[in-house]
Amino acid sequence: MKKYLSINSLIPSFNKKLNIPGDKSLSIRWILLASKALGKSRVFNLLESEDVMNAIISMRKLGVKIIKKEKYYEVNGVGLNGFEHKDNIIINAGNSGTFARLLCGALAGDVKNVKIVGDNSLSKRDFSRVVKPLKLFGINIKTRRDKLPVIVKGSKYLRPIYYKEEKGSAQVKSAILLASLSAPGQTVIKTKPSRTHTEIMIKNCLKIPIKLKKNKSFDIIKINGQQHFKGFDYEIPGDISSAAFFIVLTILANKSRLIIKNVNFNKSRVGIFEILKKMKAKIKVSNLRNYRGERLADILVKSSKNLKGIKCPRSLNTKSIDEFLIIFLACAKAKGVSEFTGIKELRQKESDRLKIAAKFLKSIGIKVDEKFDSLKIYGNPDISLKKTIIVKNFLKDHRVFMMSCVAALTLGGCFKIYDKSSINSSFPNFLVLLKKLGAKIK
Ligand code: S3P
Repeated sequence: MKKYLSINSLIPSFNKKLNIPGDKSLSIRWILLASKALGKSRVFNLLESEDVMNAIISMRKLGVKIIKKEKYYEVNGVGLNGFEHKDNIIINAGNSGTFARLLCGALAGDVKNVKIVGDNSLSKRDFSRVVKPLKLFGINIKTRRDKLPVIVKGSKYLRPIYYKEEKGSAQVKSAILLASLSAPGQTVIKTKPSRTHTEIMIKNCLKIPIKLKKNKSFDIIKINGQQHFKGFDYEIPGDISSAAFFIVLTILANKSRLIIKNVNFNKSRVGIFEILKKMKAKIKVSNLRNYRGERLADILVKSSKNLKGIKCPRSLNTKSIDEFLIIFLACAKAKGVSEFTGIKELRQKESDRLKIAAKFLKSIGIKVDEKFDSLKIYGNPDISLKKTIIVKNFLKDHRVFMMSCVAALTLGGCFKIYDKSSINSSFPNFLVLLKKLGAKIK
């Protein structure tokens, strides 16, 4: 079998409507919280990707019964500290930093040893960021030089913590929140803003008293632990981080138009929208609505010939953290220089996305200036590739793969893109949807 995917032609014009699969962050949070509830929970439109399936397999190993029904998944929650398993079990988090890090917090009240391992990419990622706050609760947690495997042994005698989170990491904030559910008394987190799904789910679905306050540059969260909560039904909205690839595809394609329905449009996730608007892309949202504290929307996007480069405000960084790769591609076709600063966290993702983006953009003839914490992109609106471009060695980063497909379908040239299986982490039907829009992929 061929090891790479070939794209040798531009996507023809399209005018379509799409539904994007469920949000990955919400899917993983729902599985963890429903497992800790008392009684049954049901979820509709759960993302059926490898990261999420690994979360399900792992929770089953911890003694949680999870059943797939025709239209939904059902979890029989075991309560706050109810995981049941043998000592020293091994949980494989696969490629998912979110699941691995949140699980470390969710194990706070579990007094048996759990060893968390992961794939090659996850094994290179930093865990000290969650180990540091979780130790303060009295959790016994060990790593191998800050990396996987992580061994977690929770405690019956947890204490609440005060923690200042300065990275703007939702994974760190969420690991602390999950641990705080099992600790007595009030945990306080002063955190640089990041995606707000965990606190929203706790407030609106678990109905646990949680106080959320926005200060100038920090959010303050106060939560009282050791409160049991009942199971809850939920419907996962579409993932804006997956929609992002189709949004930029449409912007860069010729004479095309796309409507994406039912996308999670949480204010902490809409950096891509704000950035593309500033770049003069034709993008509109409508039908803004509230679902259990989350904001949902429909998005209309059209081909946009006159994209302008952007000096991206730092305040948009965490709001677009997973969308930078595809935003950089839009900048490659924009007029003028684009500049992104304070983006070193991109080096901590499934791959070093700053390094890989710079390498990719150079390979398609775009001048870039890569520094440790910043990137300048010298856009070329007339870019039209003729040569063969090979994309490989990107640590199977799903978002590098998808960004490369969008480049191939909008910039010309003959692309050979390796590691197709990478899309299974977050967006297994990515290629099916591309073909539905008319893309020719071999
Ligand atoms: C996620 C948070 C982000 C993001 C990741 C998903 C989450 O990571 O990059 O893909 O679901 O909490 P950080 O919190 O480390 O920035």
